[in-house]
Amino acid sequence: MSLQDFLSTLDGLEEEASSAFQNASDTDSLEVARVRYLGQKSGALRDVQKRMGSIDKADRKAAGMRLNQFKSNVQGTFETAKERLSGVDSAGADPTFDPSLPGLRPTVGHIHPVTQTITHLMEIMGRMGFEAAEGPEVEDPWHNFVALNIPEDHPARDPLDNFYLATAKSGSGDRTLEGSQLLRSQTSTVQIRVMENKQPPVRVISLGRVYRPDAPDATHFPMFHQMEGLLVDKHVTMANLKTVLRVFATNYLGDDVEIRFRPSFFPFTEPSVEVDFYWNGAWIEFGGAGMVDPAVFEAVGYDPEVYSGFAFGLGVERLCMRRHGITDIRDLYSGDLRFLQQF
Ligand code: DAH
Repeated sequence: MSLQDFLSTLDGLEEEASSAFQNASDTDSLEVARVRYLGQKSGALRDVQKRMGSIDKADRKAAGMRLNQFKSNVQGTFETAKERLSGVDSAGADPTFDPSLPGLRPTVGHIHPVTQTITHLMEIMGRMGFEAAEGPEVEDPWHNFVALNIPEDHPARDPLDNFYLATAKSGSGDRTLEGSQLLRSQTSTVQIRVMENKQPPVRVISLGRVYRPDAPDATHFPMFHQMEGLLVDKHVTMANLKTVLRVFATNYLGDDVEIRFRPSFFPFTEPSVEVDFYWNGAWIEFGGAGMVDPAVFEAVGYDPEVYSGFAFGLGVERLCMRRHGITDIRDLYSGDLRFLQQF
């Protein structure tokens, strides 16, 4: 065989093999092509190699060089095709990874809507000079009832309306209901704690949890939050109370809020009112308020002849629900992220 024939056979074969590898549509057909061109037993490469012997000795070196080049070219096209079909590119990246797809957003927690509301309310009241005060959630009857002018036989002290704690009697192993400590049923307890420790003028709010054994429904939950307010000074009047609540309401709900007082009764205020806000076309009750009863001042050692004050207690969940259009209080405590993530 002449060198010329040998070289042109290789050229043709190289082209044929390369396009066979490039056009293979799956690993099976690639394997068929590999056997045909590179197979050890009967492949085209083997046939060509055999013919080397019939080439002039003087030309063999050139033929050998071309043969080596052929081998590495064809082998290269084969490897490329193999990688393409196995889906692994030469950088070794995962072929199932599509960099054009949108990424998975990492879940970042955020503050609960009730906590957000508390922060907001504190900020609004803070601008009117009200400082935040706190008290314990486990209370004694003095702070929850007695000092607030709620006597022993008052229905508000009924065990069915309160979470009394079963506490161990000292000296005996019995767990008995002593009727002493309870989960506070109102944040008015904090009024007493503040006045016991501070002389007037007083201007505080207290935002915290309260507990009542109510069956949960759309507007009731056994644990909820109140915002308690207390202002004590000389010459404080009901007009001051109404103004503070109106400024609060317009700040929290918007300028189109109206406020209404309805006569009511609370043992710790005289006179007492229920507080309604007119908002989005309806009057809604948000809590109670009034002028601090002289009996309460006496319980904490303030002189009712010198000082007067007002107090109020508003439902935090109710405010939050109104503002955000939430219709069921249970949603706030369901732990359902589909709900919570909206806030
Ligand atoms: N403590 C009352 C309640 O839980 C609400 C309340 C009414 C608080 C009148 C006050 C007040 O401070 O003056 O129903």
